[in-house]
Amino acid sequence: MVQELTYKKRVEEAVGFLRHKIAVRPDIVLQLGTGLGAFAEVVEEQVVIPYADIPHFPQSTVTSHAGNLIFGTLCGRKVALLQGRLHFYEGYCAREVAFPVRVLSLLGCRTAVITNAAGGLNSDFVPGTIMVFSDHIYLLPDNPLRGPNVDDWGPRFPDLSRPYDQRLQEAVFTVAEELGLDEVVGGTYVCIPGPSLETPAETRYLRMIGADAVGMSSLPEVLVAVHAGMRVLGLSVVANVNDPDNFTPILLDDIVAAAGRARPRLQQLLSRIVPQL
Ligand code: HPA
Repeated sequence: MVQELTYKKRVEEAVGFLRHKIAVRPDIVLQLGTGLGAFAEVVEEQVVIPYADIPHFPQSTVTSHAGNLIFGTLCGRKVALLQGRLHFYEGYCAREVAFPVRVLSLLGCRTAVITNAAGGLNSDFVPGTIMVFSDHIYLLPDNPLRGPNVDDWGPRFPDLSRPYDQRLQEAVFTVAEELGLDEVVGGTYVCIPGPSLETPAETRYLRMIGADAVGMSSLPEVLVAVHAGMRVLGLSVVANVNDPDNFTPILLDDIVAAAGRARPRLQQLLSRIVPQL
């Protein structure tokens, strides 16, 4: 219980600090995954706040994640960009991983766009496929909502019958068609703890339970966003496709490079979606 009060207090102190730093409150939070951080370049009127300067903000320990909270305007909308994320495999519990999204929900964000680089499981996918989350499977051994519930933040048992906003998913497909972007598809994302990657047998298993893409992130943030009553859009850039019968090594450098190659397409999509959020 004492620990719970401490978490609430830490969140509130971070919120209080940020309220004094920014003149306008953001409506939308965009979390940028591996290889996608450079998207921040297109945000105007930037106020950049390193995670390290924000009281109690957990620090990213992986070099592929920058660790800045950026407030600004994107296509006329007030946004907060999380440039870099925390992961369960870094040693953070799920609640700490979701700390930034909780803080931004309390700062007023009503929509969360969560992006990542993921491994493809669906054999129709190719590197560069953009997968819009239609559903998810949560396989972390910890839940960000475990422990006493803060009723002011959301319900004890949040409903997850529709975790991802239907209208936002449809908007992405419509925009993809208008832009002539191939390989933008819906699918189910599964989150594994990591940091070890999957074996061929695990890949077979993840396919069998209905997942289309696999990664080590994003879902603690999604659960907190849903708990906070936000509309959620989830997007994976498929960096590699894992075939259990012809398995090839999965290397971080390749993942970062593949996500970087897909970034212009994701950027195009997001620039058209954000005004509709
Ligand atoms: N597995 C898990 N996480 C990943 C992968 C993968 O194949 N590719 C990118 N992130």
